[in-house]
Amino acid sequence: MKIAVLPGDGIGPEIVTQAVKVLKALNLNLEMTEAPIGGAGYEAAGDPLPDATLKLAQEADAVLLGAVGDWKYDKLERHLRPERGLLRIRKELNLFANLRPALLYPELASASTLKPEVVSGLDIMIVRELTGDIYFGQPRGISMLENGEREGVNTMRYNESEIKRIGRVAFEIAMKRNKKVCSVDKANVLETTELWRQVMIELSTDYPEVELSHMYVDNAAMQLIRAPKQFDVMVTGNIFGDILSDEASMLTGSIGMLPSASLDANNKGMYEPSHGSAPDIAGKDVANPLATILSAAMMLRYTFNDEVNAGRIENAVKKALAQGFRTADIWTEGTSKVGCSAMGDAVVAAL
Ligand code: IPM
Ligand code: MG
Repeated sequence: MKIAVLPGDGIGPEIVTQAVKVLKALNLNLEMTEAPIGGAGYEAAGDPLPDATLKLAQEADAVLLGAVGDWKYDKLERHLRPERGLLRIRKELNLFANLRPALLYPELASASTLKPEVVSGLDIMIVRELTGDIYFGQPRGISMLENGEREGVNTMRYNESEIKRIGRVAFEIAMKRNKKVCSVDKANVLETTELWRQVMIELSTDYPEVELSHMYVDNAAMQLIRAPKQFDVMVTGNIFGDILSDEASMLTGSIGMLPSASLDANNKGMYEPSHGSAPDIAGKDVANPLATILSAAMMLRYTFNDEVNAGRIENAVKKALAQGFRTADIWTEGTSKVGCSAMGDAVVAAL
């Protein structure tokens, strides 16, 4: 099993080191090869997605990614910025289905900023479309108007087949869970998402056992805070999913807990934490590696069909939390604060 390991920028290298350590501890037959992406790609090859990195990722069975981005690259031309590398690799590998599970570990009920009774038992799967929408729609750009002022343009667009294939992913996942799908749109204002809603309704006839509901994105943002346990599977477009998944992560105690899988039609996938590169704490050994470690578990489950070892990693994370190990972001009174690599060690020991 070939894995392309792309640490990226900021805290990326340190969190990926911990996930690699955990994967190695399982003694599976994994061939892991590292390559630069994002700012690191720009430094190495003048490109946030160097050709060699893309080739490695294309030839691998799965990709393990840390995070990209650093303020020091904000002044580069847009096509050279780290984020472009990430968006391009998602597009090149056709990773249209982004799964972001927001799961509350009971030990962390008091680490959330919400009341424990609101979040305890929380288990939501956010299914975010990842290769379309306003992120990729043309036309786009900043141009000069005739009157001499500038105008910025992005285009929100989805065609029917793009909506259908992400909808299917959501319905299939719901069949293995509590059989509820909430489709999030802004159909009261945006035609793109009016079509989204129509296609979801049409698709739902193939899944009579699944209960489909619809919610406008503003209401969904509010409901996630008010009563998050009403949700099972949420399916939504690229930009709404970006925003709602950050919001949902805080229900789990910290964005440092939220893993993700980005899959193509054949379950080849890229696995990365849902959080960013956090350059302010990079290299200080304080970052939470659990989202990346849990992403490695998702890799075993979704790409390698290895439910047993995926479960072993998840149980080891639970055990490390039950033993009281906490990185700074999830630390509460009475638990023991550890750094990034000590948290990785705790998970390996629990394995
Ligand atoms: C995410 C991130 C990315 C996104 C950025 C870094 C381009 O926020 O994976 O959620 O917007 O998709
Ligand atoms: Mg995001």
